[in-house]
Amino acid sequence: MVKFSFGAPVSDENFFNREEELSYLEKRLFAIAKRSRNDIAVIGPRRVGKSSLVLQMAHHARRKGFRTVFLDCEGLDLESFVREYGNALMAAELEGRMDLRVREALRGGAGAAIATLSEILGRVRALELSPAFGEFLKLRIEFEKQAMAGGSGGKSVLELLDSTLTLPSKTDSKYVIIFDEFQETSSYRMESFHAVFRRAIQYQKNAVYVYAGSSIGMMEQIFGNPKNPLSGNVDILNVRPFSEQTAKEFLDEGFRSYGKNASEDALRIFWEGTNGFPAYLNWAGLRALDARGKNVKVEDAERVVGEMVSPISPVYAMVEKQLAKLGRMSRMVLRSIAQGNNTPRGIASGTTAKNVYVYLERLRRYGLILKEGEEYRIIDPVIKKLVERY
Ligand SMILES: Nc1ncnc2c1ncn2[C@@H]1O[C@H](COP(=O)(O)OP(=O)(O)O)[C@@H](O)[C@H]1O
Ligand SMILES: [Mg+2]
Repeated sequence: MVKFSFGAPVSDENFFNREEELSYLEKRLFAIAKRSRNDIAVIGPRRVGKSSLVLQMAHHARRKGFRTVFLDCEGLDLESFVREYGNALMAAELEGRMDLRVREALRGGAGAAIATLSEILGRVRALELSPAFGEFLKLRIEFEKQAMAGGSGGKSVLELLDSTLTLPSKTDSKYVIIFDEFQETSSYRMESFHAVFRRAIQYQKNAVYVYAGSSIGMMEQIFGNPKNPLSGNVDILNVRPFSEQTAKEFLDEGFRSYGKNASEDALRIFWEGTNGFPAYLNWAGLRALDARGKNVKVEDAERVVGEMVSPISPVYAMVEKQLAKLGRMSRMVLRSIAQGNNTPRGIASGTTAKNVYVYLERLRRYGLILKEGEEYRIIDPVIKKLVERY
């Protein structure tokens, strides 16, 4: 039974389809039983359903006995990455034995974290944690002490990073480790975060790493460019919006579960207005439930699709927030594409940009446009609508 849901990643009963993607991911997971490991990069634009997909995979993996770790890198600097990832690994390793109080203490100030970490350190044996875990705890305590003293901790953050990254290999468990919005790590101010990362995880036989990210060009740079340390051992899974058929099935089943149904014409309007983006399908589904009577009609679909891109809708706010980060020229270039220009020459003619390639590259880096052959496209219908109004 499909239920509509908008605003956060979905799983289980709210999660629809993605069977091919799930089986692709799960094949990789179970390959580690045979001691062969292949990591995966899950790449796609915002709101297409990447986080939901990897979380759903994590649910399945947990049921199959994997320890699972999920870390959203959005907004994390190097120090917070090291802290948060360490906390997530501790939570996974102490599963069932680490309560909310402990987690809150770790998130609190350095003082509270030190007390909690020391307490765990004192119980390493009783909790049957490895000596490596003890080493990790010691480094983390040292790190927090430096932070409390106002030190920047250049050396200690590197040491702690290495200790954290190698932790999974020092246990007997099988791990699935997911980093969401991983491209954020590209900006960490150190020699090469990705080189350190690779060195630490390279030979781990008991963990599969999954890297998801919305900044398509940046993700492709990290995982597809042979010059980057993390390329080579990673398969890329491109996540696309639902197909027309899947999108219509999703809405159809959703409406039924609320005791309603929609005509084929109404479904077509939803499909055209959302381009199969699951976030928009859910929002439209929820809004359409307000329609009077049991039938969702063409007029209802048109009203909802129109409302979606009006300034009062949360969809609009979400997309506008993403676009707000762009400079004026990038916006102009986007608008030119939205107006139907696809080749660099055509796109440039709709703007005053001197070197349109610079902007096209930037927009692709952030996942706002796709490049197919020599042509550029906006696949998100809401982005398209919004930039047309510039
Ligand atoms: N498989 C799915 N089935 C149903 N709805 C989904 C699915 N995947 C995503 N969604 C919807 O799309 C929204 C965005 O999904 P999310 O996984 O957060 O996308 P991304 O991580 O790519 O930005 C979710 O809040 C949910 O409403
Ligand atoms: Mg996401």
